[in-house]
Amino acid sequence: MVYALCIVAQPYRAFTPGEIWKDNKGIHINAHGGGILLENHTYYWFGEHKTEGREGNKANVGVHVYSSTDLYNWKDEGIALKVEPEGSDSPIEKGCILERPKVIYNAKTRKYVMWFHLEPKGKGYAGAMIGIASADHVTGPYRFIRMTRGNPQTWPVNVLELHKKSLTAEQREERSNLKSNEHPDSVNTLGRDFEKGQHSRDMTLFVDDDGKAYQIRSAESNSVIHISELTDDFLDFSGKYVRAFVGRRMEAPAIFKKDGLYYFMGSGCTGWRPNEARSAVAPSIWGPWTELGNPCVDEGKELTYRSQSTYILPVAGKKDAFIYMGDRWTSDNAIDGRYIWLPIEFEDNRFIIHWYDEWKLSRF
Ligand code: GAL
Repeated sequence: MVYALCIVAQPYRAFTPGEIWKDNKGIHINAHGGGILLENHTYYWFGEHKTEGREGNKANVGVHVYSSTDLYNWKDEGIALKVEPEGSDSPIEKGCILERPKVIYNAKTRKYVMWFHLEPKGKGYAGAMIGIASADHVTGPYRFIRMTRGNPQTWPVNVLELHKKSLTAEQREERSNLKSNEHPDSVNTLGRDFEKGQHSRDMTLFVDDDGKAYQIRSAESNSVIHISELTDDFLDFSGKYVRAFVGRRMEAPAIFKKDGLYYFMGSGCTGWRPNEARSAVAPSIWGPWTELGNPCVDEGKELTYRSQSTYILPVAGKKDAFIYMGDRWTSDNAIDGRYIWLPIEFEDNRFIIHWYDEWKLSRF
């Protein structure tokens, strides 16, 4: 009987993007909008635990973590960060929106640090906040530390004079939403959010070779990407940040580094519905960023093979091996969301993503 269960669930020997992907217990992996941390030859996959139906898009459980040594077969390690009970009045109360969790390890403090997009319960996506949590052990339990906006009362490195003109409270209110035909600088979305801190919706974390960490967020009503350096303990902003892709309206940011160059991947803004991916390259994390177009090249490329980026994973021990991790959202029944993992390939100074029904790490 036990033997039969093993055959049904694992082991996997290849990736089959878009198919049900079972963990060691035979249950479809529940780690959406996720990211991966590698430690001691083990990968830890953190993501949003979704539940059934439309309500299942909200955080009813918390952040789920799985471990793997081969990237195909994943062991359920439980809930790394639990939401707080209903009525607790915590920023991470059950029913809040908690998306795109990412975990990084801080060697100085020996803490695991988790950042995520956080929308307090009952306010839709208006909050545009960040949640920060930390733990002593990789799989948790993570303790919620605080909720913040991006870089409060701080101007980015590339601030313009026009941003610094002060806005009245009425003007701020009136400009709280950016219309799709407006440019963020005409509305001064940056100045609008200066006091409270910058919007932070879709986000990721990136740790560079020198140990410095960065938060990359969709800011200014999703019209600009902000790249912010973190403090040495990874628990706050250092104060240095830059605006990139001004007015390009990107979400779902992911970053990786190869041969000293920084590569960016993101999406357009169409909610749970897929759209065409974007890519870019820069000689420094601070830019200048040059767009490289849609990295997807096969049939289905206009909709990123019906997925949206969440992370780009360097494969340990293999040179120039990176995996695109995307979500195929199923917003009417959130728990059924699928994972689209595909190899990143390089061609003519850019990266491209082919579709494969099935593929193996030996491709690298
Ligand atoms: C997407 C975003 C997701 C989620 C969704 C809600 O654009 O990437 O993380 O926020 O919108 O509609």
